[in-house]
Amino acid sequence: MNLFDVYPLYDVTPVKANGITITDNNGMEYLDFYGGHGVISIGHSHPYYLRKIKEQLDSIGFYSNAVQNPLQIELAMKLGALSGFDDYSLFLCNSGAEANENALKLASFNTNKKRVIAFNNSFHGRTSLAVSVTDNLKINAPINSTGPKTFLPLNNIGLVEKELKKDDVCAVIIEGIQGVGGLDEGNTSFFKDLETVCDRYNVIFIVDEVQSGYGRSGKFFAYQYHGVKPDIISIAKGMGNGFPIGGILISQKFDPKHGMLGTTFGGNHLACAAAIAVLDVIDDEKLLENVNEMSAYFIKKAKMISQVKNIKGRGLMLGLEFDFEVAALRKKLIYEKHIFTGGANNKKLLRILPPLNIQKEHIDQFFNALNDILN
Ligand SMILES: Cc1ncc(COP(=O)(O)O)c(C=O)c1O
Repeated sequence: MNLFDVYPLYDVTPVKANGITITDNNGMEYLDFYGGHGVISIGHSHPYYLRKIKEQLDSIGFYSNAVQNPLQIELAMKLGALSGFDDYSLFLCNSGAEANENALKLASFNTNKKRVIAFNNSFHGRTSLAVSVTDNLKINAPINSTGPKTFLPLNNIGLVEKELKKDDVCAVIIEGIQGVGGLDEGNTSFFKDLETVCDRYNVIFIVDEVQSGYGRSGKFFAYQYHGVKPDIISIAKGMGNGFPIGGILISQKFDPKHGMLGTTFGGNHLACAAAIAVLDVIDDEKLLENVNEMSAYFIKKAKMISQVKNIKGRGLMLGLEFDFEVAALRKKLIYEKHIFTGGANNKKLLRILPPLNIQKEHIDQFFNALNDILN
């Protein structure tokens, strides 16, 4: 059987990974400045994380959501405490798209309405509802175009309010910081106004923190820079450090009903063990402090490179914008300098999403390599 060929692949075969380093099948070491699409939060193969997963596997790896699972409660309590949202409830699933799918469903259940407001250049995932509010026609199949939605520019509250007044909108969904789109974000007054108009017109305010959450922005959630409280927050990527897990944080506005949401795999024992280990490490190793320190160091060095025209993003969710398309640069970084980086819809943007425990020496290595290539 062949693999269904949907991914353009780099010719690198990782067989081992540790911290910031990935080793390929020829023994070549690579610096990971991309974390496999922003997934690696606490570093590859963190020893505490490995131990916790192995111990869990030796006890019980899986049972469905038909029985008591105290690990889910432990995860919810630790997540509530670390994120500052201990008055929210947690629903667990398996990926970012699934988190948004459930967030949008909950919004529609709650309001009994259908239309969604999303933003230009958004990315919310590939499942049916999530992709329908993703601003990319190429990844929307005809079957996805049935649900009513409206894409608007960021930072224009007048346009949002005009749509909400029509009284058919169930949710506004916005990324804390746009990832795939290229590191654009709503400004503080826009986030605050979104919260106000959603409240005024009884529309559910969803913030997608799948990529920008879990400390990546330098705060636990990126929207926390703006002092708002969304009704639902979706999470995934950094949550499991590579173990597939996602979820939504749900405000007290919603009444749960048995059977309203559900999943076979979501919140299983092994996934919870991985996610608890991630939170323990973020807390014990004070990774948010490291994110802010390393971010400042990275930005200082980036400003010294004349070819970098703009630095976007926050924390360790950063983009370097050049006045040329970066595909060739990324190839050189990977094949000549052995450094993984990311691209974006904005073809001139080099996307930087390293593990949150990166150190200055790795950033020095990155900039030495970038300077070598550029000069
Ligand atoms: C902001 C955002 N939301 C949702 C998703 C979808 O997550 P997943 O690929 O886990 O379904 C992504 C993935 O890149 C994302 O960046």
